[in-house]
Amino acid sequence: MSSDNDSLKGFQRICSLKDLHENVGKRFIVNDVEIAVFLVNKKIFVLNNICPHQHSALIYDGFIEDEFVVCPAHGWMFNLESGKTPTGGRGLEAYESTIVEGEVYVKVEEKKYSW
Ligand code: FES
Repeated sequence: MSSDNDSLKGFQRICSLKDLHENVGKRFIVNDVEIAVFLVNKKIFVLNNICPHQHSALIYDGFIEDEFVVCPAHGWMFNLESGKTPTGGRGLEAYESTIVEGEVYVKVEEKKYSW
């Protein structure tokens, strides 16, 4: 295995970079986890797609405001990078991503639901 492949250990390809559009989220399911993927200022951000407010799978449909995504249902905000709320609350789980040869890869660990 080349070192390139090694660096993608644990990552899964979800789409091509050209499938993503600036400030428009997209949802995917990886390892049974629903994720929301955003392209903002040419950077990829990956968060859990389930808003903790009412457990709605809506984060991908949120709008981007500075470094936050705003849930379209009732306006809760989450930091794109960390998933945290503006006050530093836990918010959403954030996941690693990388782009290799124009393809987008994410690392999403399977997680037990606590609700
Ligand atoms: S469901 Fe997201 S803010 Fe209410």
